[in-house]
Amino acid sequence: MGEGSALVADGTVPGHVPARLVKDFDFRYSEGVARDPWLYYAEARKGELIFWTPRNGGHWVVSGAQIVDEVFRRHELFSNGVVSIPAPPRPQSIPSSLDPPEHGKFRKILSQQIFTPRALAPIESYMDEVFGALQADLVPRGNCEFIADFARPLPVALVLKIMGLSSERQDEFREWARKMFHGTSVEEHLEGYGEARAFLDDWVAERREAIASGREQPGDAGLFIEALTQGRVDDRPLTHDEIHSISTLMLGAGVDTLTSQMGHAMLHFARHPQDRERLVANPELAVHAVEELLRRYAIANITRVVARDQEFHGVEMKKGELVLCAAAMGGLDEAAYPGALTVDFDRLQSVRHTPFGAGPHICPGAYLARTILRALIERLLPALPGLRLQPGSELSYVSGVTISLTRLPLAWDPD
Ligand code: HEM
Repeated sequence: MGEGSALVADGTVPGHVPARLVKDFDFRYSEGVARDPWLYYAEARKGELIFWTPRNGGHWVVSGAQIVDEVFRRHELFSNGVVSIPAPPRPQSIPSSLDPPEHGKFRKILSQQIFTPRALAPIESYMDEVFGALQADLVPRGNCEFIADFARPLPVALVLKIMGLSSERQDEFREWARKMFHGTSVEEHLEGYGEARAFLDDWVAERREAIASGREQPGDAGLFIEALTQGRVDDRPLTHDEIHSISTLMLGAGVDTLTSQMGHAMLHFARHPQDRERLVANPELAVHAVEELLRRYAIANITRVVARDQEFHGVEMKKGELVLCAAAMGGLDEAAYPGALTVDFDRLQSVRHTPFGAGPHICPGAYLARTILRALIERLLPALPGLRLQPGSELSYVSGVTISLTRLPLAWDPD
């Protein structure tokens, strides 16, 4: 009996999947993930570059820098129709669950009007301010729980600013984000998601009405909502539901990703003081360090659906099967990055470096994310001499659409 036939787990192995391609890999709930997700992923990727796991309903997993990049890009073979594994009982998410050419009609509003250097300039200077204020509060304390004290408030402020939502509601948004992404139960997760959606539903209706009635002058309503209310798809305005969907996606895509990535970077520096010291002494390495941390601690677990029956790199796949395209499975490719689990700031990234995906859906927030990670290295690290984990800290990871730390208790030597 092959490795696969011994596996019953919670899903099935379709008849066309050979036993040699079946592996017990649970990217969400295994103990290995809770302990060290990247070690668990790196172990799983030894052997076949494409394999099937019966876990979480059963799905394909692809690995290797080149294949991960290919699955991200080749929308004619791998559709975005389902955005997570297991498939969520949720409405479509715009633009992330659309395929070209439909996807491009919405994406161009984001790329041409919201995520442009001109539109982002005031966002960047606001980020500078918020970063400075959070840092000023944190540094004299000598310790913190980094996720709640820094890594969540910063992206919440960023996303609220981009969307033109009142910063007075930051505390509520932080709490929704905590429940949605780090809730302690499925109920809490759904509650956070429901509260955020309900708030955005009212907000979109109210903003659209204010703009339509002329109560809000052009330029006053905020770039995001104006771009979406004035944007056109197939020569018609966007509907309430479409604007609501894009707004909900912004919160999901912008907050948890950054919270998670900042957490992993700081944990790395707490565990590797020599790396912190090297960057403090050589801040010109910051740009490389950001890319290396994005590679080594890649967080995005993206889903694709097989678009038609096909043979992909010699593997038979059937239309409708789900594929996990985890950025970490590209970043931990030993052939592209020898000693892949080691962080090396002198390492050059492969052309297939995909922490932000590739192809039509490539992350429009990548520039902002990189800017914030650079600030973490250039501004925060020098202010935290002796950075370390608080003694006795137990760390635990959760993995879903992103790989995150639930808590990160840090300490340092304040002046
Ligand atoms: C370290 C931080 C981040 C990581 C690792 C990340 C990763 C990703 C990845 C891998 C995708 C591609 C999904 C796919 O192929 O289906 C994506 C899409 C997206 N990201 Fe990010 N992201 C980050 C930060 C942000 C931020 C800060 C924002 C907004 C402020 C943002 C907004 C979006 C949006 C709107 C999409 C959907 C794009 C589309 O479907 O066309 N992301 N992100």
